[in-house]
Amino acid sequence: MNELLTTSDAEVDLDLTVSDRRMLTADIVALDLVSSTGALLPVWAPGAHLEMNLDNGLSRQYSLCGDPTDRRTWTIAVLREPDSRGGSDYIHDHLSVGSKVKGRGPRNNFPLEQARTYKFVAGGIGVTPILPMIRVAETSGIPWTLLYGGRSLESMAFQDELGRYGDKVTLWPQDTHGLLDLASELGTPEPGDAVYCCGPEPLLEAVERQCDSVWPAGALHVERFRADLPDLTHARPIEVELAQSGMTLNVPADKSILEVLTAAGIEVDASCEEGTCGTCEVVVLEGTPEHHDVVLTERERERGDCMMICVSRAKGSCLKLDL
Ligand code: FES
Repeated sequence: MNELLTTSDAEVDLDLTVSDRRMLTADIVALDLVSSTGALLPVWAPGAHLEMNLDNGLSRQYSLCGDPTDRRTWTIAVLREPDSRGGSDYIHDHLSVGSKVKGRGPRNNFPLEQARTYKFVAGGIGVTPILPMIRVAETSGIPWTLLYGGRSLESMAFQDELGRYGDKVTLWPQDTHGLLDLASELGTPEPGDAVYCCGPEPLLEAVERQCDSVWPAGALHVERFRADLPDLTHARPIEVELAQSGMTLNVPADKSILEVLTAAGIEVDASCEEGTCGTCEVVVLEGTPEHHDVVLTERERERGDCMMICVSRAKGSCLKLDL
């Protein structure tokens, strides 16, 4: 197994300073971050993200997109979201060289597993976790290709870096090329191939549809930006038993399990509270979770032995959690 893929990520609190800031496109800013104390940063592997705890009270996760072997500098790239809820706007408007920011990481919900070849598919800012994967595949001599789509050529970051890889990379701006040609890219799986995809939800759904019928289970790996938040108009109340504290709590239909636990004084780590970061994962001892997060893989969902309590609920009326 390639050690660059298997590097373990030990998550820690971080005091960071912005050491460089550059606009990659009109809407995407790259920030280089170093430890404010001058210490080495933790080891990370491709797919890992950094949680940024912003001074405006928001926490946001961004994929590390620099060189995994660089222990001095971490790089993130942030798209100013047209419907920003305050995270990307804050980073664009308030973080400059010398700014201090608290963070936590690295956390990896999208690890690169060993494969014979990799087919990478990226949409827009979804290219960020793919960049270090490409570098590791290239260094390891594992064949790979990238199909990279964006609204227009001008909107697509990292073209210079990707240009070094020649015809392994296909840039696909939608305004001149239309939708990505997924049938050609993903039509003929070979044993040992893996597909890694990150981008907006319509792209992920299209890749899932394309892979569904022809690719073996487990070959497709996706990272989503947004969770499928439960429609609470049809939610049912749940009874949650806490094995360690011996408490039983009633979770009404309009509250999350996390909200009820917090109100009852039970301390649970949480960050995004929207099912995307993995911080609030708890072990399920009894009952069947109804998953709404975007962290767990299909296999982990089927096992049903853990859940993200900020968004996920229960298929039945009871759950027993290891809390
Ligand atoms: Fe982020 Fe629950 S707090 S997944």
